[in-house]
Amino acid sequence: MTHRLDLIAPHGGQLINRIATPEQKQEFLEKAEFLPRVPIDDRTASDLVLIAIGGFSPLTGFMGQADYDSVVENMRLANGLAWSIPITLSVDESVAAPLTEGSLIRLDDSSGRFIGVLHLTEKYTYDKKKEALKIYRTDEEKHPGVIVVYNQGTVNLAGDVWLLERDPHPQFPTYQIDPAQSREAFKAKGWKTVVGFQTRNPIHRAHEYIQKCAMETVDGLFLHPLVGATKEDDVPADVRMRCYEIILEHYYPQDRVILAINPAAMRYAGPREAIFHALVRKNYGCTHFIVGRDHAGVGDYYGTYDAQYIFDEFEPQELGITPMMFEHAFYCTRTKQMATTKTSPSKPEERVHLSGTKVRQMLCQGIMPPPEFSRPEVAQELIDAMRQRTQLCDA
Ligand code: ADX
Repeated sequence: MTHRLDLIAPHGGQLINRIATPEQKQEFLEKAEFLPRVPIDDRTASDLVLIAIGGFSPLTGFMGQADYDSVVENMRLANGLAWSIPITLSVDESVAAPLTEGSLIRLDDSSGRFIGVLHLTEKYTYDKKKEALKIYRTDEEKHPGVIVVYNQGTVNLAGDVWLLERDPHPQFPTYQIDPAQSREAFKAKGWKTVVGFQTRNPIHRAHEYIQKCAMETVDGLFLHPLVGATKEDDVPADVRMRCYEIILEHYYPQDRVILAINPAAMRYAGPREAIFHALVRKNYGCTHFIVGRDHAGVGDYYGTYDAQYIFDEFEPQELGITPMMFEHAFYCTRTKQMATTKTSPSKPEERVHLSGTKVRQMLCQGIMPPPEFSRPEVAQELIDAMRQRTQLCDA
């Protein structure tokens, strides 16, 4: 008897593909000179890619007003499907004014390259302060996600998109595994359950611990570091990827982990972004998703476990993917192992955990953080990287 291996369905039921076919691409290239041009920033370009490769299924384009309003207010698309972050193409009024609804628009990236086409169906204005308060839970412009909203245009252009072509990633071509491919890879490995891990920071022992706790109960780990736009003082993606290569070589069973890049930009929206991160990983084929302490948080904007509590605002079947929640993990000097307060009887002074700022200071001074905090091979890589990029230490 053969066993059928049913992967988790993409969000909304169907994996979206909005990469232009060779015929469509040819047609767009022929029209290119005559189409109105709209330049898009790096974050919008990465959103375009994620729509095209199905990472944002069921979205087929940038959101119209009904979806936008419903997502901002209710964390659902207009049809009721769970979705927590607006995916919009925002331009200045002067850019929007001459564009007519129903027409095709050429989308150029920040280097002026023609990368996509928008079938413009709607233009609408929106309330930035409301978006900030609802999505980011603050209207302070010092929040790195809020300032992006404040700086972007005042008019949203909506409609279906096509990505002209899927280029290999310039820095990480071998780790560019799109949702259709990750789904194939999970199937080929016979994995029925796969846990997705989002990260924008260099791997440390607490990351490793929660990943491995999850791995004890699922078939595979999909390590999915975010490599799109991050705030300036975050450690750059190439450094983080090298740390992953190093740690995988020494400390993980090779056949139970797949490392792949998530091309998305970071929004730092904490709880709302945790839901979004989970749905995107569902589209990549993950059945489970890790949510630890202050997931996708920044500064003191969110409570330590707000990104876990927000999952209670959905029925489990609305999301489909199962969150695996972890408390703040640390090294316990009493039991001599990684733990959380759920598993360790330690007093606070028996817990090794260092703040991001403290670790940064140590690395910048060439001091190795303790092995209870970071694997030495990773710490060495970070020290070397800091030496070459002194701007990371000036921040
Ligand atoms: S994030 O912005 O991508 O969330 P980071 O890369 O630091 O930042 O975190 C990746 C994942 O690990 C998130 O789910 C986060 O909640 C979790 N995490 C990070 N540090 C810890 C820790 N010490 N204990 C438990 N979970 C953690």
